[in-house]
Amino acid sequence: MPKYLPEPFRIKMVEPIRLISAEARKEALKNAGYNVFGLHSEDVYIDFMTDSGTSAMSQEQWSAMMLGDESYAGARSFYRLKVVMDEIFGFKHFVPTHQGRAAEGILSALLIKPGQFVPSNMHFDTTEGNIRARRGKPVNLIIDQAYNPATRLDFKGNMDIAKLKKFIRETGPENIPLGMITITNNAGGGQPVSMENLRQVSATYKEFDIPFFIDACRFAENAYFIKLREPGYEDKSPLEIAQEIFSLADGATMSAKKDGIVNIGGFLALNDDKLFESVRNELIMREGFPTYGGLAGRDLEAMAVGFMEALQVSYLEYRLGQTAYLGERLLEKGIQIIEPPGAHAIYIDAMKLLPHIPQRELPGQALSIAMYLEGGIRAVELGTVAFGYIDPDTGEEIFPRLDLVRMAIPRRVYTQSHLDYTVDILAEIAAKAESYRGFRIAYQPKLLRHFTARFEPL
Ligand code: F0G
Repeated sequence: MPKYLPEPFRIKMVEPIRLISAEARKEALKNAGYNVFGLHSEDVYIDFMTDSGTSAMSQEQWSAMMLGDESYAGARSFYRLKVVMDEIFGFKHFVPTHQGRAAEGILSALLIKPGQFVPSNMHFDTTEGNIRARRGKPVNLIIDQAYNPATRLDFKGNMDIAKLKKFIRETGPENIPLGMITITNNAGGGQPVSMENLRQVSATYKEFDIPFFIDACRFAENAYFIKLREPGYEDKSPLEIAQEIFSLADGATMSAKKDGIVNIGGFLALNDDKLFESVRNELIMREGFPTYGGLAGRDLEAMAVGFMEALQVSYLEYRLGQTAYLGERLLEKGIQIIEPPGAHAIYIDAMKLLPHIPQRELPGQALSIAMYLEGGIRAVELGTVAFGYIDPDTGEEIFPRLDLVRMAIPRRVYTQSHLDYTVDILAEIAAKAESYRGFRIAYQPKLLRHFTARFEPL
């Protein structure tokens, strides 16, 4: 059998893409303030900006959308989604939200008081932003090995349980309104968390009476890693594994734009009756009535089908295989990535590829610009621009431990030849790495600066 199986689908509808000239790419970048978020997508050849909302829906999802019930209250589509929600996630209550950050926003608004802390393995940037917006403090307590790109571990997204316990004792559980974990760990390489670790995290939060919420964006991919790598789970289905994961938590936030394989959607789910009352009220103010939550009925239908498709073994085998293929080929070319390859994305170690650019001159930003200039490829910096910040207490600039560039792979969208082209372009960049220069920030907003900042080449 070949190592990497072909796509378990054939293509029924195509969307043309084009590679504009090198001159036009230069111009487009200048107009975008050297921020790939500012590019027009038509000027991008291969778009690895995100796997969020960019996936291809199946014929089953498209046909389910035609059955959408657009009633304001009590829509049939909500109850269809509820059947799937109950089966996979099993929380007592849920509300749909238009995407993940809306769920995070509601949860943060209701639970976090200024000065309080929210631990996780690693928060994603929107979660961090929502916590900080309530003047709370996000805390990342992942195992130390996660910061070493070349270390291969089966579950490199695990929380450091000793660090978590120490943190809770020193901070006092009364200052921790909720605890989280992100599966898979997007900010740290798309690495999975083991069931054993989830059990320990759950027990620790429980011991201190801290509500436990899972950021469930890529739960199906995490479940499949558990099936492949954790003893005792080989014969369980991804669905059974997902059920066990969520049985350990008090609630979850979810962006269905990932493992819901939809273009828009999400939810906030929880067991606590009283908190749910407040969630509903908050939702009505910000998102919509609790049976649609800022989505159309047809979106709820697509989500219901998508959650189940994301748990199919043939799909997950292809999904993880495709990402591993890209990662292993880059390693063969001597390009350091976070190892082992995760599920939804490959993360290049930009400080290793461009060692002559110091961190304050934004090596990750420089690499993402080089990828667009050389090949029309769009990938996103997850380093100093995304995670660096000025400490409000000391005024000091804080740098993240890694400057990464992420190539997130949309689900069911690109073929192996798109990946081969990407490997070739990156090999060309690596061959003339010293010719690239750093950048400085010309403009930045207060929060989530990477989306709208503008840069100047040095
Ligand atoms: N949590 C994680 C782990 C995420 O990766 C994201 C989004 C969110 C929460 C927020 O969800 O976008 O629906 O509001 N990540 C996207 C990405 C944007 O590119 O990784 P959202």
